[in-house]
Amino acid sequence: MTEQKTDALANLSTEDRRFEPPADLAADANVKAEAYDRAASDREAFWAEAAERLDWGRTWDQVLDWSDAPFAKWFVGGTINASVNCVDRHVEAGRGDKVAIHWVGEPEDDSRDLTYADLLDQVSRAANALTELGVKKGDRVAIYMPMIPEVAVAMLACARLGAPHTVVFGGFSADALASRVTDCEAKVIITADGGYRRGAPSALKPAVDEAVAKTGDLVEHVVVVRRTGQDVEWDEGRDKWWHDVVDTASPDHEPEMHDSEHPLYVMYTSGTTGKPKGILHTTGGYLTGTSWTHWAVFDLKPETDVYWCTADVGWVTGHSYMVYGPLANGTTQVMYEGTPDSPHKGRWWEIVEKYGVTIFYTAPTAIRTFMKWGDDIPAKFDLSSIRLLGSVGEPINPEAYVWYRENIGASTAPVVDTWWQTETGQILISPLPGVTAGKPGSAMKALPGIEVDVVNDEAESVPNGSGGYLVLREPWPAMLRTLWGDDQRFKDTYWSRWEGLYFAGDGAKKDEDGDIWLLGRVDDVMNVSGHRLSTTEIESALVSHPKVAEAAVVGAADEMTGQAVCAFVILRESALGDDGAAPEDLIEELRKHVQKEIGAIAKPRQIMIVPELPKTRSGKIMRRLLKDVAEHREVGDVTTLADSTVMDLIKGKEGAPSSED
Ligand code: PRX
Repeated sequence: MTEQKTDALANLSTEDRRFEPPADLAADANVKAEAYDRAASDREAFWAEAAERLDWGRTWDQVLDWSDAPFAKWFVGGTINASVNCVDRHVEAGRGDKVAIHWVGEPEDDSRDLTYADLLDQVSRAANALTELGVKKGDRVAIYMPMIPEVAVAMLACARLGAPHTVVFGGFSADALASRVTDCEAKVIITADGGYRRGAPSALKPAVDEAVAKTGDLVEHVVVVRRTGQDVEWDEGRDKWWHDVVDTASPDHEPEMHDSEHPLYVMYTSGTTGKPKGILHTTGGYLTGTSWTHWAVFDLKPETDVYWCTADVGWVTGHSYMVYGPLANGTTQVMYEGTPDSPHKGRWWEIVEKYGVTIFYTAPTAIRTFMKWGDDIPAKFDLSSIRLLGSVGEPINPEAYVWYRENIGASTAPVVDTWWQTETGQILISPLPGVTAGKPGSAMKALPGIEVDVVNDEAESVPNGSGGYLVLREPWPAMLRTLWGDDQRFKDTYWSRWEGLYFAGDGAKKDEDGDIWLLGRVDDVMNVSGHRLSTTEIESALVSHPKVAEAAVVGAADEMTGQAVCAFVILRESALGDDGAAPEDLIEELRKHVQKEIGAIAKPRQIMIVPELPKTRSGKIMRRLLKDVAEHREVGDVTTLADSTVMDLIKGKEGAPSSED
């Protein structure tokens, strides 16, 4: 167990604070306690009712077809268009003038409001423009963009056409973009010249050019939004300015209703092997799951709430709880382009004050950063509009939970700690803000209609007060349908450990009341600032450097980022100087190499050059022991090592050159 997990276990045995829902919120809550029983008595009827909140072309014949498990079909025979549900229907209902997105650029005074009518105009034009560029239903479109409204427009235009999008986080490298474009065979990439980050323009188009060069003749067009005005290389014929093709296209677009199971998007995420997995989400079930949970967990009142989810659209949270869930519910929301400290550390709170944000959703890593910056920063702003706070991405430590509630939520706003994954598409475990008395550090209970359990190695449900593996016992509407092009890997990864159970990869514990505490990953996946990274993927990146012979990566507990990437590297002999020592600047070179291969988020915090790695007799690297070193602990049991002296050699290197920032 890591220190983080041990901490969580200690917390849950001593934690006796309870935060009851505020009386007014409880009285007026969208979802009341009876929902649990109603869903338990007829799960499918419960989800059918949630689906009825949406507009369908044709109503489904069957709620769930699980006959070919684990391949689920939801709302079988139904037809629906996600873009119509997120845009057209609000305009048709007379809410065209309602603001959909208060967009805030990083440079101050650079902001724009888009109403639902504006969105309809732009999404329709973009759909026509993409059609003109040859995009047809079923074609894949990659999106590599900063946080500007056009990213939502691009996603919704793809959804309208039935062309699955794959959004690649703008912080990923050209190589990462190329591998995703290749895997899902995207024929168009939508991007921008750049975006603003940390007070300066940061370029995106050069990475796209580099990626396209690596993908043969797959990519037919690159559509470029002009955001920063930076100079860009231009390939006549292939490259198109957004303003040339979208702004001039017709604002009328007749949408087709797609099958409920039509692919909506592919989102790549790290797994335990080097190759990212393309998580496939389809339309009807996904939109049902995201829109219902967004309405229930955040107690959304579309007429009065101003919602802000700080995630980047390049991650699943940006898909489910910035684009599809909120827009399907007709929400007014804030979208911010930049970093929280540009140009000052109170920027987020300034935005909350300016727009009167009522519901705020962020990640524990951000909360811990604000704690470090000091209570006086949020205290300078009027945050009294906030009535509900959400957390996602990693376990929230009780101190951060309480700080968040007190300093951002005026000690009254409930905190909903929401557990879910790229794969689950929607929130599965969370308090209901009008029902649940929250415990700091616990995600509490499965939502109505969701069957979560914690099991032991034999798949037996553990009693209250014990820990085990988090599993799902029944399918849910927004669940992933498969991995893009790899049904077998889908089965092997999630469904093979125990018959009939979805294995999430997380450890969890039930406390004495049966409430759930998440304990982090139990596999070789790391969670750095709420972002998923694979140890193997970073090891492969390190080994691809000509001076590296072998590498092992572990996630070490980190106060700020939850976990941090720590790498142990064996160099090739040719890389060593005459004195047998590693060149001085090599560590920085290796960190930059990982950044180039994957992206800045994967850059190791620490790299240790070691002479050997601890391996079992069958050659498996014992990362557990390396983690002990990285977390400055007494090294655990070494008896299964092929050579038990290896750890002494590695520990002897602890003072050797390394890099931390
Ligand atoms: O380990 C869990 C952690 O993040 C993983 C999913 O990562 P990703 O697919 O990138 O999605 C992140 C945003 C939904 C999970 O397996 N995780 C996510 N939310 C929580 C969490 N761990 C504890 N508490 C949470 N609320």
